[in-house]
Amino acid sequence: MSVLEVSVWRGGESGCFQCYEVPRLESQTVLDVVSHIQRRIDPTLAYRYACRVGMCGSCAMTVNGRARWTCRTHVAKVANGNRLDIAPLANLPVVRDLVTDMTEFFDKWQRARGCFRGDKTRRDEFARVPPESPQRKAVDEGIECIGCGVCYSACDVVSWNPDYLGPAALNRAWTLVNDVRDTDNRARLAAVAGDAGCHACHTHMNCTERCPKQLTPTGAISGLKKRVLVAALRGELD
Ligand code: SF4
Ligand code: SF4
Ligand code: FES
Repeated sequence: MSVLEVSVWRGGESGCFQCYEVPRLESQTVLDVVSHIQRRIDPTLAYRYACRVGMCGSCAMTVNGRARWTCRTHVAKVANGNRLDIAPLANLPVVRDLVTDMTEFFDKWQRARGCFRGDKTRRDEFARVPPESPQRKAVDEGIECIGCGVCYSACDVVSWNPDYLGPAALNRAWTLVNDVRDTDNRARLAAVAGDAGCHACHTHMNCTERCPKQLTPTGAISGLKKRVLVAALRGELD
């Protein structure tokens, strides 16, 4: 039977890679490999997953240098010969082994005013947006983000400038800017206009190339840049 040589990050920020031998199987995913190590070799290995079918985004890790959903990544697609290097997502603090702390990532969604704020109460009718309307179509793509952190981990600007809101939070802000029911856009555009906001993006496209849902945070950020400019010209960024 063929064997995979797998290097896995162990410990916290100052940890190191440890090597394991894992049987290579047909249709094996990277998550299968990590689970094999944890179940059969070392039960102390910490990692995270939930759905195993590409719905929750919690299994994201760095595999041979690239952020990916491990449950949707076949070993055959990414192995370097018989070698796999598996590490936690970059640009996030490591809790232990393959688990990162997502607090900062979601705090940035808050800073980008990524929460919907409407003006209806529970006694009002549902605020429906017709599915075929241009307004609804404008949010179609961005709303599919599941907050996995792959784009954030792939963004060089986040590495240089840890304050930068990053592609996922800005994509969320853009989704809400286009939501005709939302009432918080003036404050939202002001929140994404600063040095750590949309203008810090260098349009590298790493986020768009890496997003497992084929979303385009780069396009969302470009949209924000234009809307922020218009708001600035109107004197609405106070
Ligand atoms: S396009 Fe912008 S947000 Fe996306 S990876 Fe590049 S710098 Fe980061
Ligand atoms: S934009 Fe894509 S890669 Fe980024 S958090 Fe959302 S789903 Fe994940
Ligand atoms: S375990 Fe849910 S996306 Fe991989």
